Amino acid sequence: MEKIQKLVEEHVGYLIVLTVLVISVAGLVEIVPLMFQKSTTEPVAGVKPYNALQLAGRDIYIREGCHVCHSQMIRPFRAETERYGHYSVAGESVYDHPFLWGSKRTGPDLARVGGRYSDEWHRVHLTNPRDVVPESNMPAFPWLAKNLVDAEVLPKKMAALRKVGVPYTDKDIAEATAQAQGKSELDAVIAYLQGLGLALKNVR
Ligand code: HEC
Repeated sequence: MEKIQKLVEEHVGYLIVLTVLVISVAGLVEIVPLMFQKSTTEPVAGVKPYNALQLAGRDIYIREGCHVCHSQMIRPFRAETERYGHYSVAGESVYDHPFLWGSKRTGPDLARVGGRYSDEWHRVHLTNPRDVVPESNMPAFPWLAKNLVDAEVLPKKMAALRKVGVPYTDKDIAEATAQAQGKSELDAVIAYLQGLGLALKNVR
């Protein structure tokens, strides 16, 4: 035993190989079961795949870095559930590729922001946050109202998501372009925000 220890400690090559082995096995033991557990792979009742406009909005949300200031994960603590509602569960994010849980909160968590404000509030807030929240330090995103959604690319995105398990039908994909055509990026982001967290909204 001592001989082996000496060998490993004195030869950094062995040490590296064995360390990688330990981390890989430990990782597999923790990660692989999650791919088969119902609580992490099955959607919570009421969770639907994003429609075409919401999906476009989600991509704009990522492009603009909204997720850098806003988490989408309510932790199971009283202070959080009092403020935001039911804590987040994995089954709410099964159609998110990638999910946007995050932990950095410069602004509030948005996991359940759907329905909290009117579309009009979001329109004003995203164009200039100070118009509705005078002390806000969130940046303004005035260009969202001027840019149109790239609707042509949506069927391809949906087809790709279907490959990784999002249950889009052929009809969803065929109608995607028409649904988002002529809509502004602002419309898309608002559609996305208004759909967030509704499944467990009224559960306490
Ligand atoms: C630099 C950090 C930052 C970025 C980037 C940012 N926000 Fe915010 N956001 C904040 C802060 C701070 C607040 C709280 C003050 C306010 O309501 O304006 C906030 C508030 C909000 C609220 C209101 C939440 C509530 O429950 O009251 C929404 C919705 C929101 N942001 C959406 C967005 C979207 C969408 C984007 C991307 C287009 C974005 N934010 C980008 C910092 C940010």
